[in-house]
Amino acid sequence: MNITATLNYFKTNEMNDLTVLKSEIKSGSDEYRRNYNETIQIMDDFKRRLQNTIERNDDPYVKKHKSKGKLLARERINALIDPETEFYEFSALATNDLYEGKFHSAGIVTGIGIIHGIESVIIANDPTVKGGTYVKETIKKHLRAQEIAYEHHLPCVYIVESGGIFLPEQANVFADRDHFGKIFYNQSRLSAAGIPQIAMVMGSCTAGGAYIPAMSDESIIVENQGTIFLAGPPLVKAAIGETISAEDLGGAYAHTHISGVADHMAKTENEAIQICRSIFENLPKPRKTVQISEKFEEPVYPAKELYGIIHSQSSRWMNPYEIIARIVDGSKFREFKPNYGKTLVTGFAKIKGQTIGIVANNGVLFSDSALKGTHFIEMCSVRKIPLIFLHNISGFMVGKDAEHKGIAKDGAKMVHAVANTNVPKITIIFGRSHGAGNYAMAGRAYNPNLLFTWPNAKISVMGGRQAAEVLWSVKKNGSDNEEELKKQISERYEQEGSAYYSTSRIWDDGIIDPVDTRKMIALGLSIAANKEIPDYKPGIYRM
Ligand code: COA
Repeated sequence: MNITATLNYFKTNEMNDLTVLKSEIKSGSDEYRRNYNETIQIMDDFKRRLQNTIERNDDPYVKKHKSKGKLLARERINALIDPETEFYEFSALATNDLYEGKFHSAGIVTGIGIIHGIESVIIANDPTVKGGTYVKETIKKHLRAQEIAYEHHLPCVYIVESGGIFLPEQANVFADRDHFGKIFYNQSRLSAAGIPQIAMVMGSCTAGGAYIPAMSDESIIVENQGTIFLAGPPLVKAAIGETISAEDLGGAYAHTHISGVADHMAKTENEAIQICRSIFENLPKPRKTVQISEKFEEPVYPAKELYGIIHSQSSRWMNPYEIIARIVDGSKFREFKPNYGKTLVTGFAKIKGQTIGIVANNGVLFSDSALKGTHFIEMCSVRKIPLIFLHNISGFMVGKDAEHKGIAKDGAKMVHAVANTNVPKITIIFGRSHGAGNYAMAGRAYNPNLLFTWPNAKISVMGGRQAAEVLWSVKKNGSDNEEELKKQISERYEQEGSAYYSTSRIWDDGIIDPVDTRKMIALGLSIAANKEIPDYKPGIYRM
């Protein structure tokens, strides 16, 4: 194949000569069984946590809400999206270890659903969590959903029922750049970018909660249920002495007939949902920049076998080829530089028919693996091929040999390439994530379009044992007990390194079942195809 033919070959996005990966795992082996049993336990814990967050049938706030004949946030979403389609929820376990575990999912449900065939971001307040009010993480989750909408040109539906700011937390949520006001700033910018902003008012929307429908392009309000006002009746009475009911002050009739703050009046929640769906029926359909193929091969190996490959022990290796084989079409992979820089695996594959470049960790990053990664990322950037980062990294190599070979400048090249590439990036943390390796492998700060974590993952600046050694070595006051101090530090790192700690603070878009990885990557590729990829412009590499 000559050079021109090679370029055409990539331009047509055809890669028929991918090799089927040959799995080497033995499902009867002790190692496979040990991993499988451990992962089943990890998954049971994950599912129990999700269930406790999502299905709160005994929660008095849920009972009170349902007793009024109202739908719960996730029920509203399920009624809104197309039948037989799935809602891809983000960060369901946000705030799982904060606020005494009482701010379930940070009081807001966000994700992507398909409405009349259009992939859309849906943001629904959960009124059963402190009246749908906003703490710091609620805002972060709301802003992240809007960011995903902006990056992928996805219409937004806001299902609103919110008392605005959670007042005891006002110092953490009101005045800073990425605080409450950013929600409305984003709504304005999204609207100006031609991204539809639709609101459904399903309950009381007070103060900040009132601005969400008011800032929307089109809004729907439910009669005798939805209200919009800057101050509710008690505050109005106190401020100006006026006595008025909530419905008369800011109900559906007042806003659709008198003030014009809302556009459509619905008799019930279900009618509001149908009006919203009919708005979508008339929205222009996004033009995909990549032809999404209907025909593709499933992986040759079952995804469930991932449970026998992964584990949570930091010191044991996980084979990235076995993971790739259970994610990509036909388990086919064309490796790039297979014999060089082997601690990083790079190559091309397809997911649901769409060509991707894969960067997967296979050990510590050395200079050669970092250079190979840089080369591959540049290649995908120029060819405009989305990148999938399979992230399991303890960091860059340390020591005299590595330093003198220039590990710092070679690692920096990979970080440069990841930062400057314009292609869609999807990051899956399947093992460890430590040190600058987190940056080179498209960690959160490197703006991956989506970032998901597996429940066995560990995320911290370094491992607990290493941190204990470093902190002991820099300690000036020798009065502490060495063993005790190291134990405390290790335990703290273990707790803070957990995937649940990360997702609680929304350092990811959620923890996923490894079995769902292919599906979530396919979602990311599909929404990314709504936007043109700009040309690649690198920074200056230190040579
Ligand atoms: N800040 C802090 N806590 C709030 C709150 C707010 N803005 N709004 C509601 N809550 C809390 C309530 O104290 C209650 O907590 P508790 O059960 O631990 O006592 C919980 O949320 C549920 O509120 P409740 O009033 O029982 O629920 P409701 O469904 O009857 O009414 C609201 C919900 C939002 C309509 C109502 O609580 C309200 O009007 N809140 C004030 C809204 C406001 O003025 N916001 C201005 C902020 S910018």
